[in-house]
Amino acid sequence: MPELLEGYAFTIQWFPGHMTKAKRQMESELRMVDVVVELLDARIPRASANPLLKGLIGSKVKIVALNKTDMADPLATKAWLTYFKEAGLKALEVDCQKGRGVKALLTAMREAGQPVIDKWLKKGVRNHPIRIMIVGIPNVGKSTLINRILGKNKAAAQNRPGVTRNTQWVEIGKNLELLDTPGVLWPKFEKVETGFHLAVTGAIKEDVFDREMAASILLLRLKKRYPQELGASYGIAVEEMDTAESLLDKIGRARGALKSGGEVNRSKVVDLFLRDFKFGKLGPMTLEEP
Ligand code: G4P
Repeated sequence: MPELLEGYAFTIQWFPGHMTKAKRQMESELRMVDVVVELLDARIPRASANPLLKGLIGSKVKIVALNKTDMADPLATKAWLTYFKEAGLKALEVDCQKGRGVKALLTAMREAGQPVIDKWLKKGVRNHPIRIMIVGIPNVGKSTLINRILGKNKAAAQNRPGVTRNTQWVEIGKNLELLDTPGVLWPKFEKVETGFHLAVTGAIKEDVFDREMAASILLLRLKKRYPQELGASYGIAVEEMDTAESLLDKIGRARGALKSGGEVNRSKVVDLFLRDFKFGKLGPMTLEEP
């Protein structure tokens, strides 16, 4: 019996390729790293995490950065930060698009790497750099973050031998070096719920899942979780008795997504609703609780 989401048998037609190769590549890069920044999507901190990472980074210091907080529910973000801190992790919130929180992240990187500097100092080595790598699933904002950090420091770029795939260490502050290419982690689809969350936040391509089904499940979730925001975004009344179908209908009429006969254009309304959610147009919303 497949796991159902709000009564729907949601599936993802997706088969990861080159996983072993990517894992090996990351393993070799991680060997040179002191601090790992795991970038998560603040709307789905659980689904956007890869449990494989723990084994890969071993005892290295990890910082969790919740990104896209501009689109996430601030209360939920706060709850997640508390959750990570209670688990003994350094956790921060960022909005890499606008740059909010990036400065604090740089400070956290430096603090996290201090024990490494101290260790080298004890051996008589001064100014040994702390090496940092950013990792995360596709589309979580890794490149945006790296570009933000490197923006002002591109001139300091330098090559180091022994690094494959043209990656380079870029100096981003005194004794602080960032790998200019992020580590890409594969999302895990062990649970249908995870796949659904990755699908509606734009972490995976839209051609590998049923869009109408995803929109229907999401509508039912938002009806429960964020009914006011959903109603206000489209100027519709969201009622207890509403089904996914009736909500799609209301949104279609409110937005004028109609066929020539006046009937709602289903695929158009599914598209616009999924796009609105993906880009945070319905207001800040988080799909997962700690
Ligand atoms: P990646 O390297 O991890 O794969 O992700 P990347 O930086 O390419 O970012 C993916 C998308 O997410 C980009 O949108 C980027 O602008 C957006 N993004 C990154 N950080 C934030 C953030 O803090 N807030 C918001 N709202 N968006 C963020 P894009 O170029 O428009 O791509 P797409 O989403 O249209 O595919």
